[in-house]
Amino acid sequence: MCGIVAYTGPGDAVPILTEGLARLEYRGYDSAGLAVVGRSGDLRVRKAAGRVAALAASLPARFKGGTGIGHTRWATHGEPSDDNAHPHVAGTVAVVHNGIIENADELRAKLQADGVVLASETDSEVLPHLIARSAAAELEDAVREALSQIVGTYGIAVVDTRHPGVLVVARNGSPVVLGIGEKEMYAASDVAALVRYTRQVVHLDDGELATIRPDGFRTSTLDARATRKEPSVIETEDAAYDAEGYTHFMRKEIHEQPAAVERALRGRLDGRFHTAHLGGLELDPREARAIRRIKILGCGSAYYAGQVGAQLIEELARIPADAEPASEFRYRNPVVEADTLYIAVSQSGETYDTLAAVQELRRKGGRVLGVVNAVGSAIARECDGGIYLHAGPEIAVASTKAYTSTAVVFALLALHLGRIHDLSPADGRRIAEGLRALPGQIEEILRQEDRIAALAADLAKYRSMLFVGRVRGWPVAREGAQKLKEVSYIHAEAYPASELKHGPLALISPDLPAVAIVPDDELLDKNRSTLGEIRARHGRVITIGHTDAGEDSVVVPKNEPELDAILLPIPLQLLAYHAAVALDHDVDKPRNLAKSVTVD
Ligand code: AGP
Repeated sequence: MCGIVAYTGPGDAVPILTEGLARLEYRGYDSAGLAVVGRSGDLRVRKAAGRVAALAASLPARFKGGTGIGHTRWATHGEPSDDNAHPHVAGTVAVVHNGIIENADELRAKLQADGVVLASETDSEVLPHLIARSAAAELEDAVREALSQIVGTYGIAVVDTRHPGVLVVARNGSPVVLGIGEKEMYAASDVAALVRYTRQVVHLDDGELATIRPDGFRTSTLDARATRKEPSVIETEDAAYDAEGYTHFMRKEIHEQPAAVERALRGRLDGRFHTAHLGGLELDPREARAIRRIKILGCGSAYYAGQVGAQLIEELARIPADAEPASEFRYRNPVVEADTLYIAVSQSGETYDTLAAVQELRRKGGRVLGVVNAVGSAIARECDGGIYLHAGPEIAVASTKAYTSTAVVFALLALHLGRIHDLSPADGRRIAEGLRALPGQIEEILRQEDRIAALAADLAKYRSMLFVGRVRGWPVAREGAQKLKEVSYIHAEAYPASELKHGPLALISPDLPAVAIVPDDELLDKNRSTLGEIRARHGRVITIGHTDAGEDSVVVPKNEPELDAILLPIPLQLLAYHAAVALDHDVDKPRNLAKSVTVD
């Protein structure tokens, strides 16, 4: 998705903007650009389709300025091209925009009817023109006027040579964070672009606007009511955004999982009552007992991790629970029940579909908790309470450590709710011990990487693969298929093993290998007979489970059966990663995908 960086201060904005844009590359983009107000008050703009490094290398030495905005674009309206790249300019005004302006056609037509010549095919270009046409004395008021005509979502940053040293930023559905420095200020769509310069940040809320000068900022609503913002401190180290010797962030993040799981567990297990403490829940035991149902919402891998969570909650706490894609839920006019607890899951905390589902729930009086990685993100702020993953920044598009940490956090929540309900102290202790064993067991799986890489290189020759699993293995199969298709582009379909004979068995042939999730649990015999059905039809079977079945099997260490869905996906992450490497794909930035989907 698109990225924004902005700076105003005594330094040269250009290196700060190019460095910041490079930090946002992981989000996915196709073009980049900068606009700076030179010390002599002129507007300098450079933008081009292609990489940030190429743009930076093309800048002449005289391209400098004390106030500036930068952008990485992920095309929505109009192909990736120099003209469609941001910033867009009208006279003295330059704007970068994330999001989608829904009434852009109408606004473009109006501007053109007034004789304005538009230089791009984008929805965003209307913004600088609307701002430049305002008669308001203050840039902030001109931006406000322009935004009042916009229908859609935006995160924007604006400079105007008539207002030297001033940046105006605004947010509606697309994140904007201010960074506070020493007599200099920053803004960005993602803290990743800021951590190198400052730890003190302020998250704008939807419908908020900020005027930023080197010595400070003021915030207000779109209807000009002043708002008060408390800065928060980013805890993540700058180094967390570096690949630290790994060829790909995806591999680095797979290997970070033992540490990420330890962080997710740290201080949360109670050895006395064999339960879990989750500080941010905002749910006392009486309220917890009154919950009749739990509905978990997320998109993509966050949804699959939510499905693992729903199963854990049903198993350990015996509260009916299910997961649904937030992207579907928000559009189906859901019935919101007072005694249902809703849980929104998101690594980025900015996924628009999930945020919209949370907003719809809150509007209808639903109680929503967040299971979120990015501290201070929109979803985290919108929820009534929640649990942070503490997985550290996840840069690769394919989610790995956040998926695993989400599953661990759900196990903690299920343990907590279970011990309030009927889970015995002995079972509580058993689950807690199982959770404590996870980091070491993940290490054991990671030690098998070479074998899994060889298997992946062999599987990379197929055009399509099937993933099957039963009950606890079903979300694992879905996540395995998701990982494979995202990074290797091999078609992958997940099916409940129990459903094979109701249709997909017709597909089985030597050309369609099946990856089967076969934990040693109460369903092992059932799973074995499914594998027999596949093999009888000459299908190749790769097993992920607790039994060594030779070359085409990966064995994971045994833990408590309820926690199987935490360990079993890890070989599948490695399988997907190494298949993508064997096929020479850009693993961290798969085609057509962005790290966080902040558009509707
Ligand atoms: C995971 O590998 C995907 N890239 C994607 O499905 C992702 O999980 C989804 O878009 C949700 O993102 P979020 O967790 O940041 O909300």
